[in-house]
Amino acid sequence: MRWRGDEAGAGSLCAVAVVVSGACAWAWACDGDGGGGAGVATERAAWCAEAPVLSWDNFGHGFLLENCQPCHASTAADRHDAPTTVAFDSIERVRILKAKMLRMATGDAPEMPPAGGVSEEDRALLEVWLECGVDTAVEE
Ligand code: HEC
Repeated sequence: MRWRGDEAGAGSLCAVAVVVSGACAWAWACDGDGGGGAGVATERAAWCAEAPVLSWDNFGHGFLLENCQPCHASTAADRHDAPTTVAFDSIERVRILKAKMLRMATGDAPEMPPAGGVSEEDRALLEVWLECGVDTAVEE
């Protein structure tokens, strides 16, 4: 396992191992109540509490630069027709685009990047970052 941040403790490693093993990437979303309500919010909070602490600095920025920004940066030399409105230049942009990013780049059938090449582990970390860290983390 490769880790970008130092904050990931033993408990966190375990949580992501479960995610990566694919048993249920959405522990809090697969409890059968249709994906809404306080129960899900509570389970999600518990899931996030177990996950590595990921931020723009220790994960997001590097991940996006490597895997997404070649086409999506507002300054990209060759966008390969990626929409100009979909650029992940800052944490603020990512917060706005979070739902689309989760839909396109995580889950069972990710469509981004178009050529693939992102490991399952990194996709799981992207999911953790977007779900747990991106709205709450204090960014320097
Ligand atoms: C090789 C270029 C390329 C890379 C790398 C790439 N994308 Fe894209 N992306 C595109 C293109 C082209 C489109 C527009 C066509 C489409 O939506 O399929 C797009 C569209 C999108 C959209 C908008 C979808 C919508 O419904 O509006 C999102 C969100 C997105 N990409 C996320 C990502 C993420 C996250 C990554 C990195 C994990 C990534 N992309 C990497 C080319 C790329």
